[in-house]
Amino acid sequence: MKLIAKTLFGLEKVLSDELRSLGAVNIAIANRAVIFEGNTGMLYRANYCTRTALSVLMQVKEFRIRTKEDLYTTCKSIQWENFMHSKSTFSITAVVNSPLFNHSGYAGLTLKDSIADRFREKTGIRPSVNTANPDINVNLHISGVNVTVSLNSSGDPLFKRGYRQAFAEAPLNESLAAGMLLISGWNGTEPLIDPMCGSGTIPVEAALIARKIPPGRFRKSFGFQKWNNYDSNLFQQIKQECEAGIVDLKVRISGSDIAQEAVNNSIINIRNAGLENDIAVETADFNDITAPDNKGTLMINPPYGLRLNPADIDSLYAQTGTRLKHGFEGYTAWILSSNREALKRIGLKPSEKHVLMNGANECMFLKYDLYHGSQKNRNSIQS
Ligand SMILES: C[S@@+](CC[C@H](N)C(=O)[O-])C[C@H]1O[C@@H](n2cnc3c(N)ncnc32)[C@H](O)[C@@H]1O
Repeated sequence: MKLIAKTLFGLEKVLSDELRSLGAVNIAIANRAVIFEGNTGMLYRANYCTRTALSVLMQVKEFRIRTKEDLYTTCKSIQWENFMHSKSTFSITAVVNSPLFNHSGYAGLTLKDSIADRFREKTGIRPSVNTANPDINVNLHISGVNVTVSLNSSGDPLFKRGYRQAFAEAPLNESLAAGMLLISGWNGTEPLIDPMCGSGTIPVEAALIARKIPPGRFRKSFGFQKWNNYDSNLFQQIKQECEAGIVDLKVRISGSDIAQEAVNNSIINIRNAGLENDIAVETADFNDITAPDNKGTLMINPPYGLRLNPADIDSLYAQTGTRLKHGFEGYTAWILSSNREALKRIGLKPSEKHVLMNGANECMFLKYDLYHGSQKNRNSIQS
């Protein structure tokens, strides 16, 4: 089967690595997506185990059209009864860029009619459309004369793991937090600290990675479970295989935040993920924190200053830089922020730069090597 895993901009490479390690073949990186091949087990595994996929689509048909009618005729010939029945509800997501259609809505309507008409002719019943909570979500992609019809096997986006129920200020998308950790190369063999942890997304995703806990474990359901050809025995077997790989945590993972409410939210989310014995959180100003270990990884997603005045945000970033230099020697620090001016106030030269999208905000994800003693000079202070 040809499968397409969608992701966030900048996470394509780490997602392709995840899929390869799960057994995907013929992997190709696309824009905000990874295309690959695999069997039904691979489809279930990609949904249950990948940390950076937002959804996994299964291609049903790829074809070319010369007229609008071609779309209707070919879509009607698809054996929809393999996936749904006449009482299933369905929705269409259409992305269309073609001279044959002025409007994505019209192309989507054509696909909807072709499905409904096929069932009416075969069973006398037309399945109903439900855009809010459909049993089956069909994706239509038309580029010029090239059409791809796919099924969304995930249902709700995969970043909605299910453990995060409490959050206040600008929580990170769970898939983005996992992607940041995977880009950093952190793999649970050295301590990790997030001293601006907000609702705790980075520490929780870190503990899931370190303990090899599949992120799908917390979800109530996946889209493919409503398909007619759903193989529940196979899915149970895959879940058991994945859960058998879970290990104990070997390093310290900690978080802190200046806001008591954020720490309270973290505690709720950590508990929801069953990680209360793995992650320690406390209320503290980053300026008062000293490194809990000789070496480790520090990862923060500080406020971007969208709601703070520029002087305050500059001083927050300058203080953060000072604390990194004088309190975290021996560590590797990673900072995600959309505020490029404020990032200059950190006063350290990054050794790696990545561009990631956090919602609509284009962010820099920067690495700083905080050397001990004389090696510190290698980390030249910016003018
Ligand atoms: C963008 S939020 C982090 C969101 C978090 N990554 C999440 O997923 O929920 C930034 C956090 O930095 C915290 N913060 C700001 N200044 C701080 C300081 N000096 N020390 C510790 N935390 C601070 C804020 O309270 C806020 O929770």
